[in-house]
Amino acid sequence: MARPRFTSIETKHYAEREALYRALPHLDRRSFLRVSAAAAAAALGAGVRYHPHSFLTIDVAQAAVDHSFRIAYISDSHLYDRTVNERFVRQLLRAVDDINALDPQPDFVLYGGDLAQLGQRPELDLGAQILKAVKAPVRMMVGEHDWYLDMGEHWRSLFGEPTYSFEHKGVRVIVLNSVVEKDFWTARGMTPMQRMQTVAGLDNGVQSPFSVGDEQRAWLKKDLEKVSSKTPLLVFSHSPLYKLYKPWNFWTDDAEQVQAILKRFARVTVVHGHTHQLLTNRIGNIHFHGMLSTAWPWPYAPQGMPPLTIQMNRADPFNPADGLGDGEVLVHADGLVDKVYNLWNRDPVSVRRTYMTSGGKKDVPSKPNLASY
Ligand SMILES: [Fe+2]
Ligand SMILES: [Fe+2]
Repeated sequence: MARPRFTSIETKHYAEREALYRALPHLDRRSFLRVSAAAAAAALGAGVRYHPHSFLTIDVAQAAVDHSFRIAYISDSHLYDRTVNERFVRQLLRAVDDINALDPQPDFVLYGGDLAQLGQRPELDLGAQILKAVKAPVRMMVGEHDWYLDMGEHWRSLFGEPTYSFEHKGVRVIVLNSVVEKDFWTARGMTPMQRMQTVAGLDNGVQSPFSVGDEQRAWLKKDLEKVSSKTPLLVFSHSPLYKLYKPWNFWTDDAEQVQAILKRFARVTVVHGHTHQLLTNRIGNIHFHGMLSTAWPWPYAPQGMPPLTIQMNRADPFNPADGLGDGEVLVHADGLVDKVYNLWNRDPVSVRRTYMTSGGKKDVPSKPNLASY
């Protein structure tokens, strides 16, 4: 007997969204605006309650219970113009869907840098346009891919200065530009695009290591002067504020100097982009968490991996969404955070503060649930 044909509401939702996305490269600017708004609305459409937490593991659900506020993040979308690469556009739209469907909504969304691939105006404009569909307030951080074509001119015209801080519910939030490079281009007579493409390369050996730099370190010192050492700090940087692997610029050259400024504070969390993977580290009082990318996962560095990192196995090369996603930072009353990786093709992974404070002994995160390829 033939089985009755049944399509779940989730499948219908994906089919509708797929149809919208398929039309992306052929739309004029005006129609694209309508489509991106419709894609965001589709996630919240009548009867569709899909959001990342519909498949929460118990561990993540428990971690979500007692926090005092919640931040969501999206990072490293690496947008090309949508007529060149449509997939990365769809993936950013998907992350926006995820975050808009969170209930309750996060206090704000941190965008972790590398919104554009080559810092070009159409790329940054497209990213800004898509991020307008986010319901919660969006705070921006800059990445090297956004910056080195025009040295941040267009990024700043869209999003303001890349270095800033603010108070949020008793926590000092600091956003840094950690991708400052020494001038390697003038002496070589490079064009702006040659400079950008060099910085965009992972292991070319020509560009200089990233740093926060003298000017921002002086700013940071001053900004924190009047902040009590009991105040929890939440620092966002694009590169990890420690030295992981220099050949790939998974590295901040003046990391120790920045860490020294943060040392007198009892509770410090640094959340960073750039590394496109599950990445966890602790150095003294500072807890470090890497964010996922919406574009592609980087492999793990061949040496020097921090022991607290629960590694995700190699992403499935046949599934372009594997190893990607977005996530949340749950800030607790004690000022420490749980980090949630919302992986699109695997169970979510929560790295809890007790795992960090116990040096990896308590609440060990479960590994993502797929085999390696
Ligand atoms: Fe990136
Ligand atoms: Fe980056």
